[in-house]
Amino acid sequence: MERTLIIVKPDGIQRGLTGEVISRFERRGFRIVGMKFMQIDRALAEQHYFEHKGKGFFEGLVSYITSGPVVVMVLEGNNAIDISRNTIGKTNPKDAAPGTIRGDLALEIGRNIVHGSANEADAEREINLYFTPAELIDWSRDTDRWIFE
Ligand code: RTP
Ligand code: MG
Repeated sequence: MERTLIIVKPDGIQRGLTGEVISRFERRGFRIVGMKFMQIDRALAEQHYFEHKGKGFFEGLVSYITSGPVVVMVLEGNNAIDISRNTIGKTNPKDAAPGTIRGDLALEIGRNIVHGSANEADAEREINLYFTPAELIDWSRDTDRWIFE
């Protein structure tokens, strides 16, 4: 099973969309294996988004992601990385399909509500940035056999 890191960004929390966003992943069928409410500091933001350092939007991105509390979670499922990014929608909400989180709930790239890891290497790196192994729970859900074949 694949794991991915999802963040409900500060705009999602401020707008009261935390439950809405979590609910979409939960209803999709992902198993939640870790979750916390926290505020990202500048050092952590720079580590998380190191690939964007030097780009024109980097400072705005860091101040956005550190501007208020976030909910960070680890989701599990076959192909969790790609499937969760499909549920999230295109990076720029103006291009995101209706039915996706960004396509339904956001308008601008700098306020796009949610983060999802882009690939396996990023997922592993990001999960380790936000969670210790002890904070991730191995459990089986009673409904797993109705969601995973
Ligand atoms: P994320 O990492 O947040 O899941 O988003 P993503 O993979 O879809 O997009 P990525 O290229 O990794 O960009 C990270 C975040 O930076 C902001 N951004 N702003 N103004 C711009 O041109 C621009 N480009 C990216 C967005 O908040 C994006 O989610
Ligand atoms: Mg990304």
